[in-house]
Amino acid sequence: MAAGLLGIEELPREEIQKILDRARDFQHAAPKLDIARGKMVVNLFFESSTRTRTSFEIAAKRLGADTVSISASGSSVSKGESLVDTLNTLGAMRPSAIVMRHAASGAPHFLARHLPTPIINAGDGTHEHPTQALLDARTILDRTKSLEGLRVAIIGDIAHSRVARSNMYLLSKFDAHVVLCGPPALLPKQLAELCPNVTLTFDMREAIEGADVIMMLRVQLERQNEIPFPANEYFQFYGLRSEHVERAKPDVLVMHPGPINRGRELSSDVADSQRSVILNQVENGVAVRMAVLEKVLNES
Ligand code: NCD
Repeated sequence: MAAGLLGIEELPREEIQKILDRARDFQHAAPKLDIARGKMVVNLFFESSTRTRTSFEIAAKRLGADTVSISASGSSVSKGESLVDTLNTLGAMRPSAIVMRHAASGAPHFLARHLPTPIINAGDGTHEHPTQALLDARTILDRTKSLEGLRVAIIGDIAHSRVARSNMYLLSKFDAHVVLCGPPALLPKQLAELCPNVTLTFDMREAIEGADVIMMLRVQLERQNEIPFPANEYFQFYGLRSEHVERAKPDVLVMHPGPINRGRELSSDVADSQRSVILNQVENGVAVRMAVLEKVLNES
């Protein structure tokens, strides 16, 4: 299997640390570098994306690479071409790396087994979204020396969230304590067994009590085929409002991977408050993806 980045679960802590350190260099880098000149990065997005896709493209261009972006709706996937045929077609054009988002968990792993090209997972179903966890860690570390001992509350549709899984793996490797919180239908008990330092609660106030970081998640209705979920009542029980934030540490960070739904996962005043680092996360998305692309392109 060619080098790439498929998930945080299998990435050693030292490798994660190296990416986070390198991303810090890129936060202040010149707008255009020469590091990846002559390389070609293909962005292959089978699911919608604003932040991830744009920031991978900007990151590749800043490193000096060429980029091509393909979305399923405008490609031959909409003409019935199978995943393997699409991938073999792209592989035959010999890109230096493929960044892939797909609705099926494990799709990038499948691709990585079939192609000699390094694959970067930009979100696979409900499984992992490694660069999101890396940019979240970078954002926390911009404000705190270490992740060790932090209490991080992850609140919302945990069951369908690849962001929650990747963050659990990463935070657990760095000895932070993760509290997962959501309505019972969206919070499977087995998740706490995935890695050490993870606990569960259905009570939002309990999750937030003394938290250093609150990560809110979107209710992913597009993945909830089996659950008739009353999305309108959601805000009343699991929407983050100022009165909740007051229960956390005074310098708590409020995070959200986006896209945010104001009035559903969090109130507008919280989203726009001093405690919110949502746009810092977006900004760090570019620096972190530069670090990931540099590593993957160097190894290929
Ligand atoms: C997340 C995703 O696609 O997994 N968004 C993102 O990448 N910034 C979360 C979401 O869609 O709710």
